Amino acid sequence: MDYLAGKETEFLNESIEKVLLSENPDEKKTILLVDDEENNLQLLKRTLRGKYEILTATDGKKALDVVSEHGDDISLIVSDQRMPEMSGTEFLKQIAKQHPDIVKILLTGQADTDIMVDSINECQIYQYVLKPFDPIELLETIKSGIDKFDLAHNKTAMLKDLRELFYKTIKSISSALDAKDPYTHGHSMRVTLYSLVLAKELGLDDKTLEEIETAGLLHDIGKVGIPQSILCKPGKLTDEEFEVMKSHPEQGEKIVKKIKKLDIISDWLKTHHERWDGKGYPSGLKGEEIPISARIIALADTYDAMTSTRSYRQALSHDVAIEEIKRCAGTQFDPQLAELFIKNQDKILAAKENPEEYYEKYSYLKNSMGIKF
Ligand SMILES: [Fe+2]
Repeated sequence: MDYLAGKETEFLNESIEKVLLSENPDEKKTILLVDDEENNLQLLKRTLRGKYEILTATDGKKALDVVSEHGDDISLIVSDQRMPEMSGTEFLKQIAKQHPDIVKILLTGQADTDIMVDSINECQIYQYVLKPFDPIELLETIKSGIDKFDLAHNKTAMLKDLRELFYKTIKSISSALDAKDPYTHGHSMRVTLYSLVLAKELGLDDKTLEEIETAGLLHDIGKVGIPQSILCKPGKLTDEEFEVMKSHPEQGEKIVKKIKKLDIISDWLKTHHERWDGKGYPSGLKGEEIPISARIIALADTYDAMTSTRSYRQALSHDVAIEEIKRCAGTQFDPQLAELFIKNQDKILAAKENPEEYYEKYSYLKNSMGIKF
């Protein structure tokens, strides 16, 4: 773990703790009570006093203001149906869109029930309680509603933590790999970035973008088993050394295949050094036999290798690299992807010059989880 940045190690520890520790059960939950009749509000407040933090509002519009200010703290809403300006169902319908996690209980008179069935469905109401209500019964309903909120909330939070942990772990492994050779610093992230630019231009779906991002970050993971003396050799590799180097796609496949969630990308890792004309390695696949994601990564990988200084040569300029991509379209590279790359070279160049900023914009994994660094 020497290669992990301090912040990343800290994050991993925090996330594990978050996953393992449950929420403090003694923490008071916040409930919003909405009713236009002061007497009803007082009765509700008395029923719940001491057990919950209580917020109140006397109509739907005021209640929306309370939710926009305290929405993240509110676990449950009890709302009357008949109110001036906005009915309970109209109010709760808006809450269902903005805060689907908040549990909603509707207080209603017998006369309202028939016409409300549809709107109740739209509002995702947990339960409706007939007026006049029995305080003990209402309290029981609220208690079970809070339990439902806790269950859903903890599950969502845990899933988010696990996804975040997964992503950060992948990112840490990728940084650790790049750190093995000072000349490849930032290589995996740039390859991922260029791959995402191409994948988005191709209109690939969100799931594939997520997988391409993971594959880009891990594409050279098989190099962990390659001796440092070969990886960082300041001159040309001997034939024997090159054979060792050529084993990294299959090594990568083996490492990643063991992880169920990464099974799909293991094939892309194995094929990221195949060539369009069949002269690549390890299998000599050609054309569309090579998965599209691996063809994308291969192009991004080669561009980054050409435009980065290595132990054995200086970096080529962007323009020279583009000429090389043109020259090798249809032999080394998928000609359509090469054309797409050239067409979008301004985006690629901007990303190359400011990878951290562009990665913020293009990272599917990070943006889908709202991760902040
Ligand atoms: Fe590679």
